[in-house]
Amino acid sequence: MPRAAFVTIGTYVPDRVVTNEELTRYMDTSDEWIQQRTGIRERRWVEKGVGSAELAFRASQRALEQAGWKAGDVEAIVFASLSPDHMFPGDGCFLNAKLGIPGVPALDVRNQCSGFLYGLSVADAWIRAGTYRRILLVGSEVHSTGLDVSTRGRDVSVIFGDGAAAALLEATDDPGRGVLATTLHADGRFATDLWTDAPGSIYSPRNSHEMIDSGAIYPSMEGQKVFKHAIVKMPEAVRAVLGKTGLSTADIKVLIPHQANLRIAEMVQKSLGLRDDQVFNNIQKYGNTTAASIPLALAEAVPARDVKRGDVVALCAFGAGFTWGAALARW
Ligand SMILES: CC(C)(COP(=O)(O)OP(=O)(O)OC[C@H]1O[C@@H](n2cnc3c(N)ncnc32)[C@H](O)[C@@H]1OP(=O)(O)O)[C@@H](O)C(=O)NCCC(=O)NCCS
Repeated sequence: MPRAAFVTIGTYVPDRVVTNEELTRYMDTSDEWIQQRTGIRERRWVEKGVGSAELAFRASQRALEQAGWKAGDVEAIVFASLSPDHMFPGDGCFLNAKLGIPGVPALDVRNQCSGFLYGLSVADAWIRAGTYRRILLVGSEVHSTGLDVSTRGRDVSVIFGDGAAAALLEATDDPGRGVLATTLHADGRFATDLWTDAPGSIYSPRNSHEMIDSGAIYPSMEGQKVFKHAIVKMPEAVRAVLGKTGLSTADIKVLIPHQANLRIAEMVQKSLGLRDDQVFNNIQKYGNTTAASIPLALAEAVPARDVKRGDVVALCAFGAGFTWGAALARW
């Protein structure tokens, strides 16, 4: 049975760097607070008029160029984002149009920080089933246009940044390459602990001035609850995929934990007993880019950690929903 293998990952982050220092101009915060609690030094914000589909397009163009593929080689798009350009249709269709590949199916994945892993699992299943052989899997987010960039929203707005990464996946029969195992979870009892309440179809009318005035249109988070669950669920998920494959932590060349918060990543590393050279983080430069965070870090980890074809990479995520999961693949 074929499995999904990574061909390459293209990335794109906006040029505009927003430092912690800059945020102190908009809210009562400090570089020291942000770095101590999250490890973040700076993040990227888009220019006006640029949405998640455009970031994804630029990342996809780079991926196609790196792989020597034409857009027409892509048989299906899987697009993970919690910040699509519009309520509907999803960004997969906008990316399809930008790439000029009418007719190619586009699946939108709404699993927030776990979106890339949910998408990878679906793409791998399609490839195993023989449905498609070449898939473009994208994680892309524009958070900056939807944050409460004032003292009221500071706990959330200092964390998130904009960016995109596009992975090209192809069917392989090579036992030394490709996705080995995935595991996915959700626990909706915590759905309102990290969410954006409004607008939504549960409200009539769906949009109102009151929503704007009350701040219900901004993401909100029970930070400590998220933290406590993330540091347990991510290591658990990694152990689960190791268990499925008979591999051990010693076999991991590099683990990419979702870049939620550097403190969370450090606790995941400790819980799994991994050395520093076995874990890669880049949240310091980009903040939390949600669905884009894992591929954005994996793309940088490959050259930085000298990941070669066949090396075992582990990926794990935790985020809104709550949703979480892990994947193990040979690069
Ligand atoms: C958000 C997070 C950094 C907050 O850290 P914390 O140690 O839990 O801090 P608390 O929420 O207890 O807040 C401590 C104080 O800092 C304040 N504070 C919150 N955000 C602040 C900011 N950006 N700058 C300065 N002070 C801030 C709070 O108002 C609070 O003040 P008080 O004690 O006067 O009430 C932390 O909970 C966290 O990282 N959680 C995980 C979040 C995450 O990763 N989300 C992404 C999900 S995928």
